[in-house]
Amino acid sequence: MSFSQIGVVGLGIMGAGIVEVFARAGYQVVGVAESGPAVDAGKSNLAKSLARAVSKGKLSQEQSDEITARVSFGEDFELLADCDLVIEAAPEILSLKVEIFSKLDAAVKPSGILATNTSSLSVTEIANATTRPEKVIGMHFFNPAPVQKFVEVISTSHSDVQVVGKIVELGNSLGKHLAQISDQPGFIVNKLLLRYLNHAVQILDAGQATKEQMDAAMRELSGYPMGPCELLDLIGIDTCVEILKTIHADTKLEIDEPAAGMVSLVSAGAKGRKSGSGFYDYSERLDAPTDPNEAIKNQVHNDLLMAYLGDCIAMEATGYASKTDIDSGMKLGCGLPTGPFEVIESIGIEKVRAGQAELAQRTGIAAYQPLPF
Ligand code: 3HC
Repeated sequence: MSFSQIGVVGLGIMGAGIVEVFARAGYQVVGVAESGPAVDAGKSNLAKSLARAVSKGKLSQEQSDEITARVSFGEDFELLADCDLVIEAAPEILSLKVEIFSKLDAAVKPSGILATNTSSLSVTEIANATTRPEKVIGMHFFNPAPVQKFVEVISTSHSDVQVVGKIVELGNSLGKHLAQISDQPGFIVNKLLLRYLNHAVQILDAGQATKEQMDAAMRELSGYPMGPCELLDLIGIDTCVEILKTIHADTKLEIDEPAAGMVSLVSAGAKGRKSGSGFYDYSERLDAPTDPNEAIKNQVHNDLLMAYLGDCIAMEATGYASKTDIDSGMKLGCGLPTGPFEVIESIGIEKVRAGQAELAQRTGIAAYQPLPF
């Protein structure tokens, strides 16, 4: 089976980004959203992203026009009937995704593959909402989708191996680096990333550092493209809270419970960039945060890094994912300059273990203890 027409349901930042990825790669794309304004927002997100590429000289106006001409938009699921693959990119709410998949199952031709871009929810439960669970798969892109080169392909116990193979082939045709993973909450990258982001807000909530100190620490001392609060704003704080709830329901660990500072921002409608404010206010252009307090930055950097590297060691040691997939995911999915195992290699695993033990002892949080292997 070859893919010629691709559907995308949900045209927020991720959905519109996925539309752009496929249209840029030469596929015909149908973008569907639940309302006229949501369709307009998707069109506008695509137009802005292409205009940015044209203004930077990365695309000619003619190429941008060709990409735009490959995409059609609408509100009706019937528009997706002939799609070979439909990717759902709706908000991270299981009941909503289940409802969408049941509608997609009725609307899309029987040979069509249905994929979810869920960040953490059970692909199996989503597949169960259809009469074709063997053709339902996870295809998890990273924000901004046209920029980040990593995609997680999530299969379930229902998945047809040929379907998985076709999706891997398709992902490669998009110029993405793929990792295959079974259906586990948070998959590879979000399981690591969200705990790190939550840890940062827990430090903030405890008054141990400011958001500027935390963001400057990770940018300046680890070379990350964004600090944790900036990244929470980019992803959407509401989305992050939902992902953490799913991870927490699985691990039951207090460190995975969404931090109060995130929950209260969401309650106040401050969801990050998409709502105009989150940890930061986006009504005007922001400079990257800096802070001269080296002692606090060093402490925060140490604590966030030790906990995160410890999680990576545990993820690999328990057979959840390979070092290569973890390193690729964090570099190509989140733009980090180095993968965690490259960092561990350079500082030494014993130092990381000692750092974890010290963090556990100082904070009294047993979950930071290194695992006994
Ligand atoms: N759409 C398309 N292209 C974009 C873009 C967007 N929204 N934002 C930036 N770009 C492109 C720019 O055009 C530019 O392209 P070029 O190199 O070809 O000129 C390139 O990205 C760099 O952009 P800028 O110079 O404007 O800005 P920065 O250098 O500050 O990079 C960033 C912006 C790419 C967002 C970078 O800060 C970054 O990688 N941040 C980390 C983002 C991250 O971690 N994402 C993963 C989050 S987890 C996730 O998405 C999973 C989900 O399930 C929660």
